[in-house]
Amino acid sequence: MTTIDYESKIPNNVELSSDKRLQRALEHWLPKYLDWWHEMGPTDFETKDVYLRTAVSVDREGWAQFGHVKMPDYRWGIFLSDADPDRRIPFGDHMGDQAWQQVPGEYRGMLRRIIVTQADTEPASVEQQRLLAHTAPSLYDMRNLFQVNVEEGRHLWAMVYLLHTYFGKDGREEAEELLERRSGNPDHPRILGTFNEPIKTWLDFFCFTMFTDRDGKFQLLSLAESGFDPLARTCRFMLTEEAHHMFVGQTGVGRVVQRSCELVKQVGDDPQAVRNAGGIDLNTIQRYINFWAASSNDLYGGEVSSNSANFFGSSLKGRAWEEKKYDEHTANDQLKSIEMWDGNRLHDEEVPLRNAMNEVLREEFIEDNQKGINYWNKIIEENGLELRLRLPHRRFNREIGMYAGYRFDIDGNPISEDEWQAHKDEWLPSDADRAFIESLMHPVTEPGKFAGWIAPPNKGINGQAPDFEYVRL
Ligand SMILES: [Fe+2]
Ligand SMILES: [Fe+2]
Repeated sequence: MTTIDYESKIPNNVELSSDKRLQRALEHWLPKYLDWWHEMGPTDFETKDVYLRTAVSVDREGWAQFGHVKMPDYRWGIFLSDADPDRRIPFGDHMGDQAWQQVPGEYRGMLRRIIVTQADTEPASVEQQRLLAHTAPSLYDMRNLFQVNVEEGRHLWAMVYLLHTYFGKDGREEAEELLERRSGNPDHPRILGTFNEPIKTWLDFFCFTMFTDRDGKFQLLSLAESGFDPLARTCRFMLTEEAHHMFVGQTGVGRVVQRSCELVKQVGDDPQAVRNAGGIDLNTIQRYINFWAASSNDLYGGEVSSNSANFFGSSLKGRAWEEKKYDEHTANDQLKSIEMWDGNRLHDEEVPLRNAMNEVLREEFIEDNQKGINYWNKIIEENGLELRLRLPHRRFNREIGMYAGYRFDIDGNPISEDEWQAHKDEWLPSDADRAFIESLMHPVTEPGKFAGWIAPPNKGINGQAPDFEYVRL
């Protein structure tokens, strides 16, 4: 196992000190990164000690250590999972070849685009979340937010390492640009739509970490199979960190659901009564789920896509669990049935599997989301209530792919614009919903105390007591 060098300015397990040119380039990027963090990160909390985990090893067990750290002092570093010197490319046209340790020339542009698109999401989410700490429902939640933020920062480092190491001058230019685009900026936005959506409230944050970070998980799973070995190893270690982000989302929404159920039992199931009692009614939670699940569905791209065929064919981007899950890895001469929408009607059509890889990954994502929905419904069931939460149909409220620009109801049935207008406030958060959720956002900073709209967690981080001071304000 490679050990992590914590002595150098940039912690790493890639023997950075043996490549002086690369080390200098990254050390040159470091102050720019810190400038970005000071400007676009959770700036107002920079002087506070936060109980953070830091990677100390890439071993599955015991890879992290916990301690109070000021965020700007967090040791952002470059950590790759251990190399397998015999690794073979597991899929695509180059299946069976020795995994690439250098960028294959013919795929240079495509590979750079894949890396930049992934990289761009990492700082974007930090920007989207930068003001949330001011309204944190507890110190526990504030700490989880900061943990997610510093790790997204580290994921940016991971991707910038690849750009600097393998793409020369244009890689360095892309790395600079990653610090220049801004989430939600109309002139210079982040690359993908969801990463320009505002995250104004904690309900948005929990839905984002549930659904949008889960998109991250599936993108990383498919890149962890890449024939370009440094990318595969980088993504494998990122997945270790990513699990916590989805934990924050799934348990975060779960705690809001729990609190909502407790209030229903006290005041009845009229949504307004739950709101009057200081909670968030389940119907409103459902509308937030609909919004973020649909937006995150867009992140997989078009249902039928020549890009997806090229990414797979070139052995750059596989399917999630490609090696483990599938027997056939070329995806040649295979078909996948897709529900085609021609603007008027739906009909099944078989398309070449390689062209349907976006849809394959989206299906995995939706299946995984359903497990989270089941977890929330179990909470509702345990509280003895009838209502159940659900995922919106994957055609609902899409802005990318063949369903974009058309109206579908929550079950995926095509509907007219008039029907959409008549029902959309049942399905998506209305302005009034958003104003109400925002009105609940008041900080709770006493250790062990929680805002009235969310239940406490079942247990603390790293076995800490309920009233542990996760952030020293
Ligand atoms: Fe990330
Ligand atoms: Fe994440």
